[in-house]
Amino acid sequence: MAKKLLIIANWKMNPPSTAKALSLTHKIEKGIPKTTNAEVVIAPPFPFLLPVASALKKSKLGAQNMFWEKEGARTGEISNMMLKNIHVSYCIIGHSERRALGETDEQINKKIKAALMSRIIPVLAIGEKKRIPESSMRRVLETQLKKDLGGISKIAFKNGVIAYEPVWAIGTGLSATPEHARKALHMIQEILIKLWKTPKESLRDPTGQAKNVRTRILYGGSVNAKNAGPFVSKKGGGMDGMLVGGASLNAKEFTGVIKSAINSN
Ligand code: PGA
Repeated sequence: MAKKLLIIANWKMNPPSTAKALSLTHKIEKGIPKTTNAEVVIAPPFPFLLPVASALKKSKLGAQNMFWEKEGARTGEISNMMLKNIHVSYCIIGHSERRALGETDEQINKKIKAALMSRIIPVLAIGEKKRIPESSMRRVLETQLKKDLGGISKIAFKNGVIAYEPVWAIGTGLSATPEHARKALHMIQEILIKLWKTPKESLRDPTGQAKNVRTRILYGGSVNAKNAGPFVSKKGGGMDGMLVGGASLNAKEFTGVIKSAINSN
Protein backbone atom coordinates (compact mmCIF):
# COMPACT_ATOMS: atom_id res chain seq x y z
CA MET A 1 0.00 0.00 0.00
CA ALA A 2 1.20 3.49 -0.82
CA LYS A 3 2.56 5.67 1.97
CA LYS A 4 -0.12 7.65 3.82
CA LEU A 5 -0.49 11.18 2.49
CA LEU A 6 -0.51 14.12 4.86
CA ILE A 7 -2.86 16.98 3.99
CA ILE A 8 -2.88 20.01 6.28
CA ALA A 9 -5.42 22.85 6.30
CA ASN A 10 -3.69 26.07 7.30
CA TRP A 11 -6.57 28.43 8.05
CA LYS A 12 -4.18 31.30 8.90
CA MET A 13 -6.15 34.16 10.57
CA ASN A 14 -9.56 32.86 9.43
CA PRO A 15 -12.53 32.53 9.85
CA PRO A 16 -13.72 35.43 12.03
CA SER A 17 -15.96 33.51 14.46
CA THR A 18 -16.23 30.24 16.39
CA ALA A 19 -19.54 29.47 14.69
CA LYS A 20 -17.93 29.74 11.25
CA ALA A 21 -14.91 27.68 12.35
CA LEU A 22 -17.22 24.93 13.60
CA SER A 23 -19.38 24.98 10.52
CA LEU A 24 -16.30 24.68 8.29
CA THR A 25 -14.94 21.82 10.42
CA HIS A 26 -18.23 19.90 10.23
CA LYS A 27 -18.38 20.31 6.47
CA ILE A 28 -14.76 19.21 6.01
CA GLU A 29 -15.27 16.20 8.28
CA LYS A 30 -18.36 15.20 6.31
CA GLY A 31 -16.48 15.40 3.02
CA ILE A 32 -13.48 13.28 4.04
CA PRO A 33 -13.88 9.83 2.50
CA LYS A 34 -14.42 7.09 5.13
CA THR A 35 -11.56 4.92 4.04
CA THR A 36 -8.77 7.16 3.04
CA ASN A 37 -5.10 6.76 2.63
CA ALA A 38 -4.58 10.29 3.87
CA GLU A 39 -4.03 11.84 7.26
CA VAL A 40 -5.90 15.14 7.44
CA VAL A 41 -4.90 17.90 9.85
CA ILE A 42 -6.81 21.10 10.55
CA ALA A 43 -4.77 24.02 11.87
CA PRO A 44 -7.15 26.79 13.03
CA PRO A 45 -6.19 30.00 14.87
CA PHE A 46 -5.53 29.55 18.63
CA PRO A 47 -8.99 30.64 19.92
CA PHE A 48 -10.67 27.94 17.80
CA LEU A 49 -8.41 25.02 18.72
CA LEU A 50 -10.66 23.68 21.46
CA PRO A 51 -14.02 24.04 19.70
CA VAL A 52 -12.59 22.62 16.47
CA ALA A 53 -11.02 19.73 18.42
CA SER A 54 -14.44 18.79 19.78
CA ALA A 55 -15.75 18.46 16.22
CA LEU A 56 -12.91 16.36 14.81
CA LYS A 57 -13.63 12.74 13.97
CA LYS A 58 -11.39 11.80 11.07
CA SER A 59 -8.83 14.59 11.21
CA LYS A 60 -6.18 15.68 13.69
CA LEU A 61 -5.59 19.02 15.34
CA GLY A 62 -2.78 21.33 14.29
CA ALA A 63 -1.51 24.72 15.50
CA GLN A 64 0.10 27.46 13.41
CA ASN A 65 2.80 28.55 15.84
CA MET A 66 4.14 27.98 19.36
CA PHE A 67 6.59 29.48 21.81
CA TRP A 68 9.65 27.52 22.93
CA GLU A 69 9.32 27.82 26.71
CA LYS A 70 6.72 25.90 28.64
CA GLU A 71 5.55 28.78 30.89
CA GLY A 72 6.56 32.19 32.20
CA ALA A 73 6.48 35.93 31.57
CA ARG A 74 5.91 35.89 27.79
CA THR A 75 2.95 38.14 27.11
CA GLY A 76 0.94 37.03 24.13
CA GLU A 77 2.74 33.74 23.58
CA ILE A 78 1.36 30.18 23.62
CA SER A 79 3.64 27.39 24.84
CA ASN A 80 4.36 23.92 23.56
CA MET A 81 2.99 22.46 26.82
CA MET A 82 -0.29 24.38 26.50
CA LEU A 83 -0.78 23.01 23.00
CA LYS A 84 0.12 19.50 24.11
CA ASN A 85 -2.37 19.82 26.94
CA ILE A 86 -5.22 20.31 24.47
CA HIS A 87 -4.03 17.45 22.27
CA VAL A 88 -2.51 19.36 19.39
CA SER A 89 -0.76 16.78 17.20
CA TYR A 90 1.01 18.97 14.63
CA CYS A 91 2.40 22.52 14.64
CA ILE A 92 3.37 24.58 11.61
CA ILE A 93 6.67 26.31 12.37
CA GLY A 94 8.53 28.93 10.35
CA HIS A 95 5.76 29.80 7.91
CA SER A 96 6.91 32.50 5.49
CA GLU A 97 4.19 34.85 6.76
CA ARG A 98 5.78 34.65 10.22
CA ARG A 99 9.30 34.92 8.84
CA ALA A 100 8.14 38.09 7.02
CA LEU A 101 7.17 39.55 10.41
CA GLY A 102 10.68 38.95 11.72
CA GLU A 103 10.73 35.35 12.97
CA THR A 104 14.33 34.22 12.71
CA ASP A 105 15.88 30.83 11.94
CA GLU A 106 17.22 30.81 15.50
CA GLN A 107 13.71 31.18 16.92
CA ILE A 108 12.38 28.58 14.47
CA ASN A 109 15.08 26.17 15.62
CA LYS A 110 14.04 26.66 19.27
CA LYS A 111 10.38 26.14 18.37
CA ILE A 112 11.12 22.90 16.54
CA LYS A 113 13.07 21.63 19.53
CA ALA A 114 10.19 22.61 21.83
CA ALA A 115 7.67 20.83 19.62
CA LEU A 116 9.76 17.67 19.59
CA MET A 117 10.22 17.86 23.37
CA SER A 118 6.46 17.95 23.87
CA ARG A 119 5.82 15.27 21.22
CA ILE A 120 4.04 17.62 18.85
CA ILE A 121 5.01 16.95 15.24
CA PRO A 122 6.69 20.03 13.74
CA VAL A 123 5.83 21.01 10.18
CA LEU A 124 8.80 23.15 9.19
CA ALA A 125 7.94 25.52 6.34
CA ILE A 126 10.78 26.55 4.03
CA GLY A 127 11.02 28.00 0.54
CA GLU A 128 12.61 30.60 -1.68
CA LYS A 129 11.04 34.08 -1.89
CA LYS A 130 11.31 34.68 -5.62
CA ARG A 131 11.67 32.58 -8.73
CA ILE A 132 15.43 32.03 -8.83
CA PRO A 133 17.79 29.65 -10.66
CA GLU A 134 18.08 26.12 -9.29
CA SER A 135 21.55 26.63 -7.81
CA SER A 136 20.39 29.66 -5.81
CA MET A 137 17.25 27.82 -4.75
CA ARG A 138 19.35 24.95 -3.40
CA ARG A 139 21.43 27.47 -1.43
CA VAL A 140 18.31 29.05 0.11
CA LEU A 141 16.82 25.69 1.10
CA GLU A 142 20.15 24.46 2.45
CA THR A 143 20.66 27.59 4.57
CA GLN A 144 17.15 27.35 6.02
CA LEU A 145 17.37 23.63 6.74
CA LYS A 146 20.84 23.87 8.30
CA LYS A 147 19.80 26.68 10.64
CA ASP A 148 16.27 25.51 11.41
CA LEU A 149 17.34 21.92 12.11
CA GLY A 150 20.66 22.80 13.78
CA GLY A 151 21.42 20.45 16.67
CA ILE A 152 18.45 18.21 15.84
CA SER A 153 19.32 14.63 14.94
CA LYS A 154 17.67 12.52 12.28
CA ILE A 155 16.30 10.28 15.04
CA ALA A 156 14.83 13.23 16.97
CA PHE A 157 13.17 14.53 13.80
CA LYS A 158 12.03 11.10 12.63
CA ASN A 159 8.31 12.01 12.60
CA GLY A 160 8.95 15.61 11.59
CA VAL A 161 7.58 17.12 8.41
CA ILE A 162 9.04 19.65 5.97
CA ALA A 163 6.66 21.80 3.92
CA TYR A 164 8.25 23.18 0.78
CA GLU A 165 6.40 26.41 0.09
CA PRO A 166 7.88 28.72 -2.54
CA VAL A 167 6.81 32.12 -1.22
CA TRP A 168 6.03 33.33 -4.75
CA ALA A 169 3.34 30.64 -5.03
CA ILE A 170 1.60 31.32 -1.70
CA GLY A 171 -1.80 32.96 -2.04
CA THR A 172 -1.09 34.06 -5.60
CA GLY A 173 -3.20 31.51 -7.44
CA LEU A 174 -0.04 30.65 -9.37
CA SER A 175 1.18 27.35 -7.97
CA ALA A 176 4.57 25.88 -8.80
CA THR A 177 4.53 23.04 -11.32
CA PRO A 178 4.73 19.45 -10.05
CA GLU A 179 8.10 19.23 -11.86
CA HIS A 180 9.39 22.19 -9.85
CA ALA A 181 8.08 20.62 -6.63
CA ARG A 182 9.84 17.37 -7.53
CA LYS A 183 13.14 19.21 -8.01
CA ALA A 184 12.71 20.84 -4.61
CA LEU A 185 11.83 17.47 -3.08
CA HIS A 186 15.06 15.93 -4.37
CA MET A 187 17.10 18.93 -3.24
CA ILE A 188 15.60 18.74 0.26
CA GLN A 189 16.23 14.99 0.46
CA GLU A 190 19.83 15.49 -0.61
CA ILE A 191 20.34 18.34 1.85
CA LEU A 192 18.88 16.22 4.68
CA ILE A 193 21.13 13.31 3.78
CA LYS A 194 24.15 15.63 3.92
CA LEU A 195 22.93 17.25 7.12
CA TRP A 196 22.39 13.94 8.85
CA LYS A 197 25.46 12.38 7.20
CA THR A 198 23.78 9.35 5.65
CA PRO A 199 26.32 7.53 3.45
CA LYS A 200 26.41 8.85 -0.13
CA GLU A 201 25.83 5.49 -1.77
CA SER A 202 22.31 5.35 -0.38
CA LEU A 203 21.44 8.65 -2.05
CA ARG A 204 19.10 7.23 -4.68
CA ASP A 205 17.19 4.06 -5.34
CA PRO A 206 16.37 3.01 -8.93
CA THR A 207 13.17 5.11 -9.01
CA GLY A 208 15.15 8.26 -8.31
CA GLN A 209 13.91 8.63 -4.73
CA ALA A 210 16.54 9.32 -2.13
CA LYS A 211 16.83 6.36 0.19
CA ASN A 212 17.10 6.32 3.94
CA VAL A 213 15.27 9.59 4.30
CA ARG A 214 11.83 9.02 5.66
CA THR A 215 11.05 12.62 6.50
CA ARG A 216 7.71 13.55 4.95
CA ILE A 217 8.00 16.44 2.54
CA LEU A 218 4.88 18.41 1.53
CA TYR A 219 4.19 20.98 -1.14
CA GLY A 220 2.35 24.22 -0.37
CA GLY A 221 1.44 27.26 -2.47
CA SER A 222 -1.89 27.83 -4.25
CA VAL A 223 -2.98 24.19 -4.06
CA ASN A 224 -6.61 23.63 -5.03
CA ALA A 225 -8.90 20.75 -5.95
CA LYS A 226 -7.94 21.02 -9.63
CA ASN A 227 -4.15 21.07 -9.36
CA ALA A 228 -3.59 18.90 -6.25
CA GLY A 229 -3.32 15.42 -7.77
CA PRO A 230 -0.14 15.83 -9.84
CA PHE A 231 1.80 17.15 -6.82
CA VAL A 232 1.52 13.80 -5.07
CA SER A 233 1.41 11.39 -8.01
CA LYS A 234 4.47 9.18 -8.38
CA LYS A 235 5.11 10.42 -11.92
CA GLY A 236 4.42 14.04 -10.99
CA GLY A 237 5.70 15.84 -7.92
CA GLY A 238 6.03 12.71 -5.78
CA MET A 239 5.34 14.79 -2.65
CA ASP A 240 4.09 13.20 0.58
CA GLY A 241 1.15 15.58 0.84
CA MET A 242 0.22 19.23 0.90
CA LEU A 243 -0.09 22.29 3.09
CA VAL A 244 -3.20 24.11 1.93
CA GLY A 245 -4.05 27.73 2.75
CA GLY A 246 -6.82 29.55 0.88
CA ALA A 247 -8.48 26.41 -0.49
CA SER A 248 -8.83 24.97 3.02
CA LEU A 249 -11.35 27.70 3.90
CA ASN A 250 -13.85 26.20 1.49
CA ALA A 251 -14.94 22.70 2.54
CA LYS A 252 -15.81 21.56 -0.98
CA GLU A 253 -12.49 22.77 -2.35
CA PHE A 254 -10.46 21.29 0.52
CA THR A 255 -12.16 17.90 0.43
CA GLY A 256 -11.65 18.08 -3.35
CA VAL A 257 -7.91 18.44 -2.67
CA ILE A 258 -8.03 15.39 -0.41
CA LYS A 259 -9.95 13.32 -2.95
CA SER A 260 -7.78 14.21 -5.92
CA ALA A 261 -4.64 13.54 -3.88
CA ILE A 262 -5.94 10.12 -2.82
CA ASN A 263 -6.91 9.24 -6.38
CA SER A 264 -3.51 10.24 -7.74
CA ASN A 265 -1.41 8.48 -5.12
P1 PGA B 1 -2.14 29.09 -0.12
O1 PGA B 1 -1.28 29.09 1.22
O2 PGA B 1 -2.63 27.67 -0.33
O3 PGA B 1 -3.26 30.05 0.12
O4 PGA B 1 -1.23 29.51 -1.22
C1 PGA B 1 -0.45 28.03 1.57
C2 PGA B 1 0.25 28.33 2.86
O5 PGA B 1 0.60 29.49 3.10
O6 PGA B 1 0.46 27.44 3.69
